[in-house]
Amino acid sequence: MKKVGFVGWRGMVGSVLMDRMNELNDFDQFESYFFSTSQVGLAAPSYSTDKILKDAMNIDELKAMDIILTCQGGDYTKAVHSALRKSGWSGYWIDAASALRMEETSIIVLDPVNRNVIDEGLDKGIKDFVGGNCTVSLMMMALGGLFKNDAIEWLTSMTYQAASGGGARHMKELLTQMHTIGSNFVNMDQTLSKDIIEVDRIVTNSFRDNSLDTSCFGAPLAGNLIPWIDSAVDAGQTREEWKGISETNKILGRRDNIIPIDGTCVRIGTMRCHSQAFTIKLKRDIPLNEITEMISSHNDWVRIIENSPESTRAHLTPAAVSGTLDIPIGRLRKMNLGGEYLNAFTCGDQLLWGAAEPVRRMLNILIEKSI
Ligand code: HSE
Repeated sequence: MKKVGFVGWRGMVGSVLMDRMNELNDFDQFESYFFSTSQVGLAAPSYSTDKILKDAMNIDELKAMDIILTCQGGDYTKAVHSALRKSGWSGYWIDAASALRMEETSIIVLDPVNRNVIDEGLDKGIKDFVGGNCTVSLMMMALGGLFKNDAIEWLTSMTYQAASGGGARHMKELLTQMHTIGSNFVNMDQTLSKDIIEVDRIVTNSFRDNSLDTSCFGAPLAGNLIPWIDSAVDAGQTREEWKGISETNKILGRRDNIIPIDGTCVRIGTMRCHSQAFTIKLKRDIPLNEITEMISSHNDWVRIIENSPESTRAHLTPAAVSGTLDIPIGRLRKMNLGGEYLNAFTCGDQLLWGAAEPVRRMLNILIEKSI
């Protein structure tokens, strides 16, 4: 049996991954070893082959693994990956962090979309497999059928990204802000609370009087939004926006013939689902029924949502999707701009298809191929 080492399995993405692997009995397929940066020598989880936690910074212990799967984050990858490779380790490195994503020696994994790229990479001896940016992966799961049919000339993605994209502390900060604002309303003078303008004044004051904890987001997120995610890159884009074009084309294995993608990435006050509104310039005026067929037949998780108020409210919201692998796509219609312009909206769980599921499936591909 292959020896698989897990690092960063207790964090948010790691915990979602462990739950899913347990649910599907993945641990029956290999020997599992759990590594830690802070609790070396303490008890490993019950499903571990080795009952003791190993040292995640110990190159010799890591070298004994055939496969390492890490959700520990980019700093860990930068600290360990190249030292491990330099030590002569030629095992498979599967990573949920972005540090190695754009390296020539890595492949971004999203097998329902790019299984061909993954298989070609394995044949060529690629050893580093990295999960994609959550927004990109969720977009590609939703639009996989259009990419596969090479139907897209360009697209814009305007995003509505959940607090979880920042991390666990960010989710808690959002909830704390919601609580503070809600309390300000509940506790205000009850004679004034009948006047919505007065209520709004209280809420707006709470945005400006420094009473909200904004240490993670740098601005209130509850009752607000922030049209900036991650650091600045060239030409006025954020890094999150830059990932749209660079990662998508890398996932598809397109080097020369890139599909232009751009948009504005926005943080909103939802918990763990990222939503996106697309304007898609098709290469030709494809009838809507053909478009829905291309999209719905592409993978087992994408679902077409009827363009009606009832279906949209019931199925195309973070509240409907959270905690599931569903990839609903709706609001599909040709735009006033012309028959080649398609409008669409999608929503997906940022921790499942956006993070844990692609790396879990990559591990299973390696185990099934027995390489
Ligand atoms: N960068 C993403 C976000 C999450 O901030 O929402 C990680 O893919």
